[in-house]
Amino acid sequence: MNVELIKNGQVYTLRRTTPPQIEWVLDFTLPAYQQRLQQRGRKNDPLAKAVGLSKQKELRILDMTAGLGKDAYWLAHCGASVQMLERHPLLAECLEHAVQLLAQDSEGVDVAKRMQVQQADALDFLQAVAPGQFDVAYYDPMFPERKKSALVKKDMQIMQALHDEDILSENVIATVLKKIPKLVVKRPISADFLEGIAPQHQIKGDKIRYDVYIK
Ligand SMILES: C[S@@+](CC[C@H](N)C(=O)[O-])C[C@H]1O[C@@H](n2cnc3c(N)ncnc32)[C@H](O)[C@@H]1O
Repeated sequence: MNVELIKNGQVYTLRRTTPPQIEWVLDFTLPAYQQRLQQRGRKNDPLAKAVGLSKQKELRILDMTAGLGKDAYWLAHCGASVQMLERHPLLAECLEHAVQLLAQDSEGVDVAKRMQVQQADALDFLQAVAPGQFDVAYYDPMFPERKKSALVKKDMQIMQALHDEDILSENVIATVLKKIPKLVVKRPISADFLEGIAPQHQIKGDKIRYDVYIK
């Protein structure tokens, strides 16, 4: 793994150890996380639309692949309760810490109450999920393209350095829909369907799309 976690008081920084040095601070109160809140309301955001938050606020969402927590934070900000799962131990530790920091922020405390983190493989976690426990599952695995160009954003570069190889789970769609009635899968705009299975509908953005599977 080419990333180290540096803890400096309350500041947790993920730093790529190979040049060029890239750092990511996982703190939901920073501009990298706050920007999205200013850009769009939940009614116009493709992810909010795909999960159903544009119509209903209080959804219970299982974020199967929490990563740097950008999507989970946005979904919780929109009103959802979000159970975040992340199998990478460094990321899970940073996410847990970031939720604690948010809970100390007077403007973030209510959102933090709706965010929970667990280090787990999502498919293992699903075994113990009771039907009715979640309204929606959200799945954003690492994209297959690994462009090395300077255009790849800092967050993606950290993620690529953290994950030497992608371990893609199998049979995700059927496994999720046994327990949770709706699954939203994030895909690059022109990528094939996950597992070759066509979704019931799609919400398209500029570069990515959300494929929505309903039980
Ligand atoms: C593309 S990132 C997700 C980015 C995230 N949506 C965000 O907003 O920051 C994918 C993450 O999912 C994690 N992951 C992939 N498969 C997983 C699984 N089966 N269970 C738990 N975590 C998984 C990876 O470790 C990686 O950190």
